[in-house]
Amino acid sequence: MNIGFHRVRVWDLPTRLFHWALMLCVLGAVGTGLVGGTAMIWHFRLGQAVLALLAFRLVWGLVGGRWSRFASLPLSPRSLLAYLRGRAGVSLRTGHSPLGALAVLGFLLVLATQVATGLVSDDEIAWLGPLSHLVSNATVSAATSYHRFWGKWLILSLVLLHLLAITWYSMRGHKLVPAMIHGDKTLDEPMPASRDDRASRLVAALLFGLSVALSVWVFSLAPAGF
Ligand code: HEM
Repeated sequence: MNIGFHRVRVWDLPTRLFHWALMLCVLGAVGTGLVGGTAMIWHFRLGQAVLALLAFRLVWGLVGGRWSRFASLPLSPRSLLAYLRGRAGVSLRTGHSPLGALAVLGFLLVLATQVATGLVSDDEIAWLGPLSHLVSNATVSAATSYHRFWGKWLILSLVLLHLLAITWYSMRGHKLVPAMIHGDKTLDEPMPASRDDRASRLVAALLFGLSVALSVWVFSLAPAGF
């Protein structure tokens, strides 16, 4: 529970912007994929944005604020057991909890797979992934069926699970959403904060620019007339 007087910056601004942008792009991509037709133009654009966001988060997980780093994710079975037995110390309640850490990795992995399979999908009517010409027909066909069925339902299930988990925590007094908005948690012990100053935000902006360039380059590999 967030009792105490130590206000700590846990989620730096780049991580918060990443999260809410990812939410909008993922929901938009699922929605436009379901609508189909000309909405697919936006499905492609949103997929391209998700690719840039994932590339950014990958690098930010190495150099970003303390609690956004992959090295800070409590992934050991020991942490998970302690957490499940209700014996989690303040360090397991500052950034992502052990269950939250698994959810982060799950989300990143499932979304990366969805982007990768989308890049080589083909609906055999009007829409072709920009890299589908680079792989075999068998790969295109397997990727398309994963992307359209398993990938989509996995993402929707994870989102539902994510929202249920947040509601469950909230009902037990752990208000996680405000921290993802303003960045701070109030803890009962002092903990080191995530760096979130002008210089680190500038680095994040540069890294995001590079991630966008990477995503644009990937889509530029599409054959002429795409
Ligand atoms: C498509 C929808 C969504 C996706 C794909 C998504 C994805 C994610 C990801 C990847 C993280 C980890 C953040 C990081 O470390 O980079 C996360 C954390 C979080 N998300 Fe979402 N999210 C979605 C919707 C939402 C919504 C609607 C809310 C609030 C109502 C929300 C609240 C949170 C909170 C509070 C955390 C931090 C959890 C913690 O303290 O461990 N998310 N989400």
